Amino acid sequence: MSAVKLVAGNWKMHGTSTDLGEVRTVADAAARLRGRVEVALCVPATLIHRAAEEVPGFAIGAQDIHMKDKGAHTGDVCAAMLHDAGASLTIVGHSERRDAYREDDSIVRAKAEAALRSGLRVILCVGESDAEREAGRALEVVCAQVAGSLPREGAEPATLAVAYEPIWAIGTGKIPTASDIAEMHDAIRERLAAAYGSAGQGIRILYGGSVKPSNAAEIFAIGNVGGALVGGASLKAADFVPIVEAAAEAN
Ligand code: PGA
Repeated sequence: MSAVKLVAGNWKMHGTSTDLGEVRTVADAAARLRGRVEVALCVPATLIHRAAEEVPGFAIGAQDIHMKDKGAHTGDVCAAMLHDAGASLTIVGHSERRDAYREDDSIVRAKAEAALRSGLRVILCVGESDAEREAGRALEVVCAQVAGSLPREGAEPATLAVAYEPIWAIGTGKIPTASDIAEMHDAIRERLAAAYGSAGQGIRILYGGSVKPSNAAEIFAIGNVGGALVGGASLKAADFVPIVEAAAEAN
Protein backbone atom coordinates (compact mmCIF):
# COMPACT_ATOMS: atom_id res chain seq x y z
CA MET A 1 0.00 0.00 0.00
CA SER A 2 1.04 3.57 -0.65
CA ALA A 3 3.03 5.09 2.19
CA VAL A 4 0.67 7.89 3.17
CA LYS A 5 -3.08 8.08 3.43
CA LEU A 6 -5.17 10.36 1.23
CA VAL A 7 -7.95 12.35 2.88
CA ALA A 8 -10.22 14.16 0.44
CA GLY A 9 -13.12 16.42 1.29
CA ASN A 10 -16.22 16.53 -0.90
CA TRP A 11 -18.06 19.80 -0.37
CA LYS A 12 -20.92 18.74 -2.70
CA MET A 13 -23.22 21.71 -3.46
CA HIS A 14 -22.00 23.78 -0.53
CA GLY A 15 -19.71 26.76 -0.37
CA THR A 16 -19.18 30.22 -1.83
CA SER A 17 -16.28 32.62 -1.71
CA THR A 18 -17.04 33.38 1.94
CA ASP A 19 -15.87 29.83 2.73
CA LEU A 20 -12.38 30.21 1.27
CA GLY A 21 -11.00 30.71 4.78
CA GLU A 22 -11.86 27.06 5.50
CA VAL A 23 -9.78 26.03 2.48
CA ARG A 24 -6.88 28.12 3.73
CA THR A 25 -7.01 26.54 7.22
CA VAL A 26 -7.09 23.02 5.76
CA ALA A 27 -4.21 23.83 3.40
CA ASP A 28 -2.15 25.14 6.33
CA ALA A 29 -2.75 21.87 8.22
CA ALA A 30 -1.82 19.87 5.11
CA ALA A 31 1.44 21.83 4.80
CA ARG A 32 2.22 21.20 8.47
CA LEU A 33 1.63 17.45 7.99
CA ARG A 34 3.33 17.17 4.57
CA GLY A 35 4.96 13.79 4.04
CA ARG A 36 2.65 12.11 6.58
CA VAL A 37 -0.72 12.52 4.84
CA GLU A 38 -2.02 13.78 1.52
CA VAL A 39 -5.01 16.12 1.57
CA ALA A 40 -7.40 17.44 -1.08
CA LEU A 41 -10.62 19.44 -1.14
CA CYS A 42 -13.16 18.86 -3.91
CA VAL A 43 -15.05 22.13 -3.93
CA PRO A 44 -17.92 23.24 -6.21
CA ALA A 45 -16.75 24.03 -9.77
CA THR A 46 -17.46 27.72 -9.19
CA LEU A 47 -14.86 27.87 -6.41
CA ILE A 48 -12.04 25.90 -8.02
CA HIS A 49 -10.23 28.86 -9.53
CA ARG A 50 -10.53 31.05 -6.44
CA ALA A 51 -9.51 28.21 -4.12
CA ALA A 52 -6.52 27.20 -6.26
CA GLU A 53 -5.31 30.81 -6.29
CA GLU A 54 -5.85 31.13 -2.54
CA VAL A 55 -3.71 28.08 -1.70
CA PRO A 56 -1.11 27.40 -4.42
CA GLY A 57 0.41 23.95 -4.05
CA PHE A 58 -2.60 22.54 -2.21
CA ALA A 59 -4.73 19.97 -4.09
CA ILE A 60 -8.07 21.42 -5.16
CA GLY A 61 -10.39 18.97 -6.88
CA ALA A 62 -13.61 18.86 -8.88
CA GLN A 63 -16.59 16.66 -7.99
CA ASP A 64 -17.46 15.50 -11.50
CA ILE A 65 -16.45 16.04 -15.13
CA HIS A 66 -18.01 15.40 -18.53
CA MET A 67 -16.73 12.26 -20.26
CA LYS A 68 -16.01 14.07 -23.53
CA ASP A 69 -13.09 16.44 -24.08
CA LYS A 70 -15.26 19.15 -25.70
CA GLY A 71 -18.43 19.63 -27.70
CA ALA A 72 -22.06 20.66 -27.69
CA HIS A 73 -22.89 19.82 -24.05
CA THR A 74 -24.72 22.81 -22.62
CA GLY A 75 -23.96 23.36 -18.97
CA ASP A 76 -21.23 20.74 -18.75
CA VAL A 77 -17.57 21.16 -17.90
CA CYS A 78 -14.75 18.97 -19.19
CA ALA A 79 -11.58 17.80 -17.47
CA ALA A 80 -9.28 20.14 -19.40
CA MET A 81 -11.38 23.16 -18.30
CA LEU A 82 -11.21 22.12 -14.65
CA HIS A 83 -7.48 21.47 -14.93
CA ASP A 84 -7.09 24.92 -16.50
CA ALA A 85 -9.07 26.43 -13.60
CA GLY A 86 -6.60 24.93 -11.13
CA ALA A 87 -8.01 21.49 -10.25
CA SER A 88 -5.51 18.67 -9.89
CA LEU A 89 -8.01 15.88 -9.29
CA THR A 90 -11.67 14.96 -9.63
CA ILE A 91 -14.19 12.62 -8.10
CA VAL A 92 -16.06 10.41 -10.60
CA GLY A 93 -18.93 7.99 -10.06
CA HIS A 94 -20.21 9.38 -6.77
CA SER A 95 -23.43 7.55 -5.86
CA GLU A 96 -25.36 10.83 -5.87
CA ARG A 97 -24.48 11.19 -9.55
CA ARG A 98 -24.91 7.52 -10.40
CA ASP A 99 -28.40 7.85 -8.92
CA ALA A 100 -29.58 11.34 -9.96
CA TYR A 101 -28.05 11.29 -13.45
CA ARG A 102 -28.24 7.57 -14.18
CA GLU A 103 -24.47 7.34 -14.54
CA ASP A 104 -23.65 3.69 -15.13
CA ASP A 105 -20.26 1.98 -14.95
CA SER A 106 -19.41 2.65 -18.60
CA ILE A 107 -20.03 6.39 -18.13
CA VAL A 108 -17.98 6.41 -14.93
CA ARG A 109 -15.13 4.60 -16.71
CA ALA A 110 -15.26 7.10 -19.60
CA LYS A 111 -15.12 9.98 -17.10
CA ALA A 112 -12.15 8.43 -15.28
CA GLU A 113 -10.33 7.97 -18.59
CA ALA A 114 -11.13 11.55 -19.66
CA ALA A 115 -9.78 12.89 -16.37
CA LEU A 116 -6.52 10.94 -16.65
CA ARG A 117 -6.10 12.10 -20.28
CA SER A 118 -6.28 15.71 -19.10
CA GLY A 119 -3.86 15.26 -16.24
CA LEU A 120 -6.40 15.12 -13.40
CA ARG A 121 -5.99 12.49 -10.71
CA VAL A 122 -9.13 10.46 -10.06
CA ILE A 123 -11.11 9.37 -7.02
CA LEU A 124 -13.50 6.73 -8.38
CA CYS A 125 -16.48 5.95 -6.13
CA VAL A 126 -18.30 2.65 -5.71
CA GLY A 127 -20.75 1.41 -3.09
CA GLU A 128 -23.84 -0.68 -2.47
CA SER A 129 -27.34 0.38 -1.42
CA ASP A 130 -29.02 -0.63 1.80
CA ALA A 131 -31.23 -3.12 -0.03
CA GLU A 132 -28.22 -4.70 -1.75
CA ARG A 133 -26.40 -5.15 1.56
CA GLU A 134 -29.55 -6.55 3.22
CA ALA A 135 -29.84 -9.05 0.36
CA GLY A 136 -26.24 -10.19 0.92
CA ARG A 137 -25.15 -8.75 -2.43
CA ALA A 138 -22.79 -5.98 -1.29
CA LEU A 139 -19.55 -7.67 -2.39
CA GLU A 140 -20.97 -8.76 -5.71
CA VAL A 141 -22.40 -5.31 -6.51
CA VAL A 142 -19.28 -3.38 -5.53
CA CYS A 143 -16.89 -5.74 -7.31
CA ALA A 144 -18.99 -5.47 -10.47
CA GLN A 145 -18.86 -1.66 -10.21
CA VAL A 146 -15.08 -1.78 -9.78
CA ALA A 147 -14.64 -4.12 -12.76
CA GLY A 148 -16.94 -1.99 -14.93
CA SER A 149 -15.68 1.47 -13.97
CA LEU A 150 -11.89 1.18 -13.67
CA PRO A 151 -10.02 3.13 -16.35
CA ARG A 152 -8.30 0.89 -18.86
CA GLU A 153 -5.16 3.02 -19.08
CA GLY A 154 -3.19 5.46 -16.99
CA ALA A 155 -4.07 4.05 -13.57
CA GLU A 156 -1.24 4.11 -11.05
CA PRO A 157 -1.00 4.72 -7.31
CA ALA A 158 -0.24 8.39 -8.04
CA THR A 159 -3.20 8.90 -10.39
CA LEU A 160 -6.08 6.77 -9.10
CA ALA A 161 -7.79 6.10 -5.79
CA VAL A 162 -10.97 4.06 -5.36
CA ALA A 163 -13.46 5.20 -2.72
CA TYR A 164 -15.73 2.60 -1.16
CA GLU A 165 -18.82 4.49 -0.04
CA PRO A 166 -21.80 2.40 1.05
CA ILE A 167 -24.78 4.52 -0.01
CA TRP A 168 -26.60 3.87 3.25
CA ALA A 169 -23.65 5.32 5.20
CA ILE A 170 -23.49 8.63 3.32
CA GLY A 171 -24.76 11.50 5.43
CA THR A 172 -26.59 9.16 7.80
CA GLY A 173 -24.17 8.76 10.70
CA LYS A 174 -24.22 4.97 10.14
CA ILE A 175 -21.01 3.15 9.23
CA PRO A 176 -20.28 -0.49 8.45
CA THR A 177 -18.49 -2.62 11.02
CA ALA A 178 -14.69 -2.69 10.83
CA SER A 179 -14.84 -6.25 9.54
CA ASP A 180 -17.31 -5.30 6.79
CA ILE A 181 -15.04 -2.44 5.71
CA ALA A 182 -12.00 -4.76 5.80
CA GLU A 183 -13.79 -7.44 3.78
CA MET A 184 -14.84 -4.96 1.11
CA HIS A 185 -11.48 -3.23 0.88
CA ASP A 186 -9.71 -6.61 0.58
CA ALA A 187 -12.07 -7.60 -2.24
CA ILE A 188 -11.46 -4.28 -4.04
CA ARG A 189 -7.70 -4.77 -3.59
CA GLU A 190 -7.96 -8.15 -5.33
CA ARG A 191 -9.79 -6.56 -8.27
CA LEU A 192 -7.21 -3.77 -8.51
CA ALA A 193 -4.36 -6.28 -8.49
CA ALA A 194 -6.13 -8.34 -11.15
CA ALA A 195 -6.61 -5.26 -13.32
CA TYR A 196 -3.25 -3.55 -12.88
CA GLY A 197 -0.80 -6.06 -11.41
CA SER A 198 1.72 -4.54 -9.01
CA ALA A 199 0.39 -0.99 -9.60
CA GLY A 200 -2.94 -2.26 -8.27
CA GLN A 201 -1.30 -3.13 -4.97
CA GLY A 202 -0.40 0.50 -4.36
CA ILE A 203 -3.63 2.20 -5.45
CA ARG A 204 -5.28 3.65 -2.37
CA ILE A 205 -8.74 2.46 -1.37
CA LEU A 206 -10.53 5.18 0.58
CA TYR A 207 -13.48 4.64 2.86
CA GLY A 208 -16.33 7.16 2.65
CA GLY A 209 -19.64 7.55 4.47
CA SER A 210 -20.11 9.39 7.79
CA VAL A 211 -16.40 9.72 8.55
CA LYS A 212 -16.07 12.05 11.56
CA PRO A 213 -13.30 13.11 13.93
CA SER A 214 -14.76 10.60 16.43
CA ASN A 215 -14.48 7.51 14.19
CA ALA A 216 -11.59 8.41 11.87
CA ALA A 217 -8.74 6.77 13.83
CA GLU A 218 -10.66 3.50 14.07
CA ILE A 219 -11.38 3.51 10.33
CA PHE A 220 -7.77 4.35 9.38
CA ALA A 221 -6.52 1.40 11.46
CA ILE A 222 -8.38 -1.09 9.23
CA GLY A 223 -6.26 -3.04 6.72
CA ASN A 224 -6.37 -1.78 3.14
CA VAL A 225 -7.94 1.54 4.17
CA GLY A 226 -5.74 4.04 2.37
CA GLY A 227 -7.62 7.16 3.42
CA ALA A 228 -11.08 8.69 3.41
CA LEU A 229 -13.53 10.62 1.29
CA VAL A 230 -15.35 12.96 3.63
CA GLY A 231 -18.57 14.85 2.91
CA GLY A 232 -20.31 16.73 5.72
CA ALA A 233 -17.31 16.76 8.05
CA SER A 234 -15.13 18.40 5.38
CA LEU A 235 -17.16 21.64 5.26
CA LYS A 236 -15.58 23.07 8.40
CA ALA A 237 -11.83 22.93 8.95
CA ALA A 238 -12.52 22.41 12.67
CA ASP A 239 -14.03 19.00 11.82
CA PHE A 240 -11.87 18.10 8.84
CA VAL A 241 -8.42 18.86 10.25
CA PRO A 242 -8.76 16.34 13.13
CA ILE A 243 -9.63 13.67 10.50
CA VAL A 244 -6.52 14.65 8.52
CA GLU A 245 -4.45 14.47 11.71
CA ALA A 246 -5.84 11.00 12.50
CA ALA A 247 -4.72 9.84 9.04
CA ALA A 248 -1.24 11.29 9.60
CA GLU A 249 -1.05 9.50 12.94
CA ALA A 250 -2.13 6.20 11.38
CA ASN A 251 0.97 6.02 9.19
P1 PGA B 1 -20.60 12.05 4.30
O1 PGA B 1 -20.48 11.98 2.70
O2 PGA B 1 -19.19 12.10 4.84
O3 PGA B 1 -21.36 13.31 4.56
O4 PGA B 1 -21.32 10.82 4.74
C1 PGA B 1 -19.47 11.23 2.08
C2 PGA B 1 -19.57 11.36 0.58
O5 PGA B 1 -20.68 11.40 0.04
O6 PGA B 1 -18.53 11.40 -0.11
